[in-house]
Amino acid sequence: MSEQRVAVITGGASGIGRETCLHFARKGDRVVVADFNEAGGRETVRLIEDNGGEACFARVDVSSQDSVEALVEEAVARFGRIDVMFNNAGIGGAGPVLEQNMELYHRTIGVNQHGVAYGIMAAGRKMKELGIKGVIINTASVFGFLASPGTFAYHATKGAVVMMSKSAALELAPYGIRVVAIAPGAVDTPILQGYKNAGLIDSMRAKVMGGELTKPEAIAKSVYLISLEDAEAINGSVVMVDQGYAS
Ligand code: NAI
Repeated sequence: MSEQRVAVITGGASGIGRETCLHFARKGDRVVVADFNEAGGRETVRLIEDNGGEACFARVDVSSQDSVEALVEEAVARFGRIDVMFNNAGIGGAGPVLEQNMELYHRTIGVNQHGVAYGIMAAGRKMKELGIKGVIINTASVFGFLASPGTFAYHATKGAVVMMSKSAALELAPYGIRVVAIAPGAVDTPILQGYKNAGLIDSMRAKVMGGELTKPEAIAKSVYLISLEDAEAINGSVVMVDQGYAS
């Protein structure tokens, strides 16, 4: 690709999203750091700029379709194109099935499921309109197909991300746009602190090869590889980035 790429990364203020912003920028892409945590997002931009990269912050609430549409418009207004959309923002938890906090249940569905759907639609339409053969990468989880107690709504959303990715990939393939889901296992980020069940985190850690939580930097590098044109065969796929968690 001759022109410098533009990557829009949601959840860019923390964890996997931040590390992916930093990695894409290090590789020479222009990055839109999107999050509703403005302080964290601006810190990601600062880290990129201090390293000589190019980035801007865009505030987004991915559970609002208008907000996600505005994010994509803002990215194109700022940088003129969008090559990579990483729908990664997410929240954890929501608790056991018989003790659901219904507000948290709906919020989990709104952020993790609707947020990804809105991102696929907004970026897909814009890439098609601009004739860009881009890639949309969505963060699912091993919890999208492996059950564990206490995270009922989270499982529902991640299963949905898997199937939305496959379905959208079929429909966007004629335009040369790829859609891929990634399935991390247990990654060392603040989201795990939301799990009240410490035993759950210990059992998750034990499933990762080497017995340590996966580093978010390692997920970022895999996302970057998937985004490259050379990865054209990775389409409609769920890429395990789990260090053996689901093996
Ligand atoms: P994190 O908590 O460090 O980052 C999540 C980011 O999403 C935060 O910056 C937060 O402000 C942002 N966010 C939350 N709700 C938002 C909203 N409505 N609009 C915009 N931004 C919002 O967590 P982490 O681990 O980096 O999570 C990233 C993704 O990875 C999530 O989708 C999560 O479900 C997924 N994942 C994480 C795993 C782990 O073990 N950490 C394992 C499998 C999947």
